[in-house]
Parts: sequence; structure tokens; C-alpha cells
Amino acid sequence: MNVLIGVSGGIAAYKAADLVSRLVGRGHGVRVVMTAGATRFVGPITFEALSGHPVMLDALATAAADPTSSVEHVAWAKWTDVALVAPMTANTLARLACGLADDALSTVMLALPARVPCLVAPAMNTAMWEHPAVVRNLRWLRELDRYEVIPPVSKRLACGDVGMGGLADVDTLVDAVEAAAQRVSPGAPSAP
Ligand SMILES: Cc1cc2nc3c(=O)[nH]c(=O)nc-3n(C[C@H](O)[C@H](O)[C@H](O)COP(=O)(O)O)c2cc1C
Repeated sequence: MNVLIGVSGGIAAYKAADLVSRLVGRGHGVRVVMTAGATRFVGPITFEALSGHPVMLDALATAAADPTSSVEHVAWAKWTDVALVAPMTANTLARLACGLADDALSTVMLALPARVPCLVAPAMNTAMWEHPAVVRNLRWLRELDRYEVIPPVSKRLACGDVGMGGLADVDTLVDAVEAAAQRVSPGAPSAP
């Protein structure tokens, strides 16, 4: 199964490295798209080493540098069987809820064929999670009927607060990816 992992710029971005490692270990093909913010937390080289593929950072820059890959975001979208954004920041949530395509991650997510399950795992500080704008954006996202939300968990957060907003466990994320794949292709092996 081909899994596209989107990583946005939250403190839990480092957990995406474990996620990618686990998915690769289970036999899946994995490609990673990072926001510019995510690269401030974890270097792309980590994901390139773990996935064995280049990381997509800036679709326009890639197209300018190599005309043969000018529709790379569409090619990556067509390659994908299941997509998961983890962690999904409040900012990336706003992008996806509004249908913006102003970076590589949001552009690829919009280009995904309708058959591809799109999972998102929000993670943020509790006050951010409870902010009316975030609550509204999450409602807008759900209303699109295009995204499956893997809810955050209540825990001690990196900022020291205890409350809702922690990224779901990596086990939960792996299970959700494989369950989504089974729904689309019942009977298919969960890992090639
Ligand atoms: C140390 C630190 C940790 C952060 N953690 C989060 C987080 O967990 N969730 C979140 O929504 N934003 C978090 N932010 C804010 C985002 O990095 C910021 O909103 C950024 O613009 C997100 O951009 P992106 O969604 O394009 O990656 C954090 C910022 C800093 C400085």
C-alpha cells in the first residue's frame, strides 16, 4: 500500500518519524510531504532516510528546477492509496478546511483522487484546540465529508499544560491507515 504522510509544523512532528518508520517496517511504500514549518522541527533528511524517497517541500520550486517533474504534486497524489496528515497543526487545518493550496502539502491533498481516504490527526495546545476558529475549522473540515479525523488525546503536552491536544498514539495512527486501506480494498493484504 502506498501511504502519503503530510507533516506540518507542530511539536509532535518528531513523532511522524516513528510513524514513517513503522509504516515502512510493515511493508508499505511511504512518501512524505512537509510544510515549511515542519522543517523547522525535523529535517527532511530524516524522512528521506526513513522512507527511501525524496521529501516534497515546495512543489513550485521542484517544477522550476526540473521541468520533467512539473506536475509532481499530481503524480504523487495518483501514487497514493491512503493519505494521513500527522501532526495537523491549527494552521494546516485552516488551510484544508478552506481548500487552500498555497503550499506543497495542501496542494497534494487537494489533488488526491476521490478514491483515496484522507486522514488527519490534529495536535496542538489545548487553548488552540478549544479556540472558536479551530472548532469552526474542524466543523468545516468534517462538513466536506472528505476527511477522517483521528482525534487528539488528553495528556501532558509539550508546553507543560495537561489537557486535550496531544497527537494520537503512533499505534492508533498506523491502525487507522491500515483500516482505511482495508475499507477501500477489502481483502487486500494490509501490507504488501
Ligand atoms: C515550539 C513550537 C511548537 C508548536 N507546536 C504547535 C502544535 O503542536 N500545534 C500547532 O497547531 N501549532 C504549533 N505551533 C505553531 C505552528 O508552528 C505555526 O502555527 C506554524 O505557522 C504552522 O505552520 P504549518 O501548518 O504550515 O506547518 C508551534 C510553534 C512553536 C514555536
